[in-house]
Amino acid sequence: MLKNPETEQKIDALLAKMTLREKIGQLNQLGGSPVGGFGVTKEEAEGLYQAGNITKEQYDAICQGGTADANEDAVRRGEVGAFLSVQGREYTNRLQRIAVEESRLGIPLLFGLDVIHGHRTVFPSPIAEACTWNTDTFEESAHIAAREAREDGINWTFTPMLDIARDPRWGRIVESPGEDTYFATRYAVAKIKGFQGEDMSTSDRICACAKHFVAYGQGEGGRDYNTVDMSEAKLREVYLPPFEAAIEAGVGTIMPAFNDLSGIPCTSNKWLLDTYLRGEHHFEGFCISDAHAVKQVRFAGTARDEADAAVQSVSAGCDMDMGCEHYIHHLEGAVANGILSEEVINEAVRRVLRVKFALGLFEHPYVETPREPSVLSAPHRAAARDAARRSVVLLKNDGILPLSQKTNILVVGYFADRGDEMLGSWVISGQGEDSVTLLDALNSRGVDYTFVPCVGADMTVDFNLLDNALAAAEESIVLAMVGEKRDNVGEACSKGHLDLEGEQSEMLAHIHASGKSLVTLLFNGRPMTIGQEAEISNAVVETWQLGVEAGNATLDVLFGDYNPSGRLTVTFPRHVGQCPTYYNHPKIGRPYSALSKWTSKYIDDETAPLYPFGYGLSYTTYTYENLVLRVEDDILAVSVDVTNTGSVPGEETVQIYTQCRYGLRVRPVKELKGWDKVFLYAGETKTVTVRIARKTLGYYDAQCNFITEPNTYFVWAAHDSSSGVQGEIAF
Ligand code: GLC
Repeated sequence: MLKNPETEQKIDALLAKMTLREKIGQLNQLGGSPVGGFGVTKEEAEGLYQAGNITKEQYDAICQGGTADANEDAVRRGEVGAFLSVQGREYTNRLQRIAVEESRLGIPLLFGLDVIHGHRTVFPSPIAEACTWNTDTFEESAHIAAREAREDGINWTFTPMLDIARDPRWGRIVESPGEDTYFATRYAVAKIKGFQGEDMSTSDRICACAKHFVAYGQGEGGRDYNTVDMSEAKLREVYLPPFEAAIEAGVGTIMPAFNDLSGIPCTSNKWLLDTYLRGEHHFEGFCISDAHAVKQVRFAGTARDEADAAVQSVSAGCDMDMGCEHYIHHLEGAVANGILSEEVINEAVRRVLRVKFALGLFEHPYVETPREPSVLSAPHRAAARDAARRSVVLLKNDGILPLSQKTNILVVGYFADRGDEMLGSWVISGQGEDSVTLLDALNSRGVDYTFVPCVGADMTVDFNLLDNALAAAEESIVLAMVGEKRDNVGEACSKGHLDLEGEQSEMLAHIHASGKSLVTLLFNGRPMTIGQEAEISNAVVETWQLGVEAGNATLDVLFGDYNPSGRLTVTFPRHVGQCPTYYNHPKIGRPYSALSKWTSKYIDDETAPLYPFGYGLSYTTYTYENLVLRVEDDILAVSVDVTNTGSVPGEETVQIYTQCRYGLRVRPVKELKGWDKVFLYAGETKTVTVRIARKTLGYYDAQCNFITEPNTYFVWAAHDSSSGVQGEIAF
């Protein structure tokens, strides 16, 4: 944990020396100065000034010094505690040297960056990597990202994102581990262990940040930043557990979400950031606001002015202000006017210093040039390729896959040769030229293919070029890489429609009409409504956004070098009208039935989803038999015999679901409560046992009492949330 007597004494001693302004300086995170410390020419500065990105003072500072970073003086005055998005150890060391050697107290800086799914070795987007259901992969990719980022001067990242995402209209679903709470708790622990390790002061670890706190994915209408209102019981049951797991795992920082929570912005929500987070769960790290979120408390209308927004936020427990400089501009006056107690400032500073000590910044503030840079090293690329092929989900296959090496194919699709697109929606340091695209991989494999560049950047299709190519081609198989552009998913990218962008669907229809076999590869960051496209495809492969090894990983699966093992962690709706849609919905009095009018359904479209949570095909098949349920003290032991009934080896993810038969509040029709992965050779059978603690089955009653009373449960051992062998037990 972060708190220990030795560090607390050091903090006490430091606090005693600090002026109020220096204390508030620690709570001030500046965006990386757009005019960086190096190499900004006068012309570039002119452009930045004309665009309003820098102030007149900053512009003048550059013009005088040419290399001056306009924020450097603020660092010298002890008015900056951290920077956001400053990159490169040369630059971070320069700013750190000013903080440590030229400011009065020499308190080192934090350098934060969104290293969401890799630094330079970019891994699959979180929604993709989640489909591996592999906690070792989650941890390893975070550790590799931490090593590369720390070498680059970064000591803090704003991830893992732990938002439960049940609505694919919300673009940030791409950053999430998916729709299930239990899954997200295990994901949280693995990620924080990967980033922070047991000691985050070492040169291969950085401080993590659990975000966005909380229920950000529940914004009305699937619209980003939108209002969220729900019962406390639902909040505690669905959205808070991943953050509780993160705190137990020792996460150093937490980021309140942009949204309000039942009328109070998370950034200034005292119940959330103080009563719940510190009072109930004893979080010892600090809260960093989201970008300019302190300013947005005023836009939400719950603060009268900037000063009020600043006082409310820091008093609620949002310790550091990201980017809008409201704390450094207003808190000193608030203390002087008796509106704010200096003790509140002291406690916030203490939390920030606790993390700086834990990172070892007082002992080792500077970053050495590594003898052997780890960036994009062969082991890192190998790990990225392994994670990527495990992330691939086979959604349909009529037997056309795996392809034989001798297959010659026609390749179409905007994404086939786009290295930047392979990196996905949330990368800052990743470079497109580092990516292996589909065409790169086809070339390196020596596959005989023809690429038809018939899809433009605007997703329009040159149907003449396509039809002529189809007519002229001897190839019998078309590989179509379709989906959504990476800039159209992620933050501020909510969509009202989930169809393939532009004319891509028509393109698939043309290919189908030509009589050729069609393998559809999906490149996307969210579930899309691809029911019709799937019908006309011989195979559909969900490749998400797979990172720098995307092309190699995709072909590893298509040619059978890797038997696909990915399983969805989000439900695919058939139509956008179903959103939000998720498997673990509460039981209701008139559940959907296709046989009766008077049940919960759509009368003008399908009610069941296209692909359920946990779904994914393999090149082999598995059977589940002999379910055995045993009570071992306060543990429910679930055992099942799993057999590989196909002709190739494969890795199966055995999922355990329960349904609580009776509750004081409505209970979900099914909930994931455990899983394990098992590798099986053709014909091999293994008994898989998953143990579930009674606490894991607990829930909240309407008064938010946590209930773990004995109950009766349906239990499933399953391949996905819509299948499995079922038993019943009193526990
Ligand atoms: C963004 C995101 C947050 C990110 C932060 C810093 O607006 O909401 O996830 O960490 O700003 O880039």
